[in-house]
Amino acid sequence: MEFDQVIRERYSVRRYRQEPIADEALDTILKAGMIAPTGCNYQPQRVYVLKSDEAIARIRELSRCAFDAPVVLIVALKESEDWKSPLEAGCRAGIQDVSIVADHMMLEAWNIGVGSCWVNYFKPSEVKAAFGLPEDETPVLLMTLGYPADDAKPAKLHEASKQPEEIIQYR
Ligand SMILES: Cc1cc2nc3c(=O)[nH]c(=O)nc-3n(C[C@H](O)[C@H](O)[C@H](O)COP(=O)(O)O)c2cc1C
Repeated sequence: MEFDQVIRERYSVRRYRQEPIADEALDTILKAGMIAPTGCNYQPQRVYVLKSDEAIARIRELSRCAFDAPVVLIVALKESEDWKSPLEAGCRAGIQDVSIVADHMMLEAWNIGVGSCWVNYFKPSEVKAAFGLPEDETPVLLMTLGYPADDAKPAKLHEASKQPEEIIQYR
């Protein structure tokens, strides 16, 4: 798919076909995350792939936004590994790193016909405990993945509501 088509046609998919994602496709998506840029290339992201019946049942208990997806990723930040700025206390790259990684995976997924939804509607502490993440890792987002259902369509929220001049300023 052309890059422009990927970024213009992608939308958050919240209804999925009830079939597994082919291993090769899942691998392609995960590898797209591996080549994403991160601060100093420290790669502090950790990605947990939930696809067993047990894991999917558990994540659906913990977030109604797991929807009916056959695969859900937990994209987490290893707090000890991200770049920390020497210039100002508290400035660090971790959430930016994880977000770029997630965006790479989301766009690659769409590129190969797999739908996704970025999900923040969950309690990180609960997800961390349920899936046994190490102490120094924080789940930042969940990403549902699967082939879009035949009746999947963009939600109303998909329509951009702001005008360019509200967002972009030239100085
Ligand atoms: C940081 C972030 C958090 C989000 N959390 C959720 C969520 O918890 N549940 C959900 O259904 N969609 C969630 N979304 C999807 C957004 O609602 C969606 O991207 C936005 O409305 C634009 O629609 P589109 O993705 O179809 O273009 C989230 C997206 C982002 C970037």
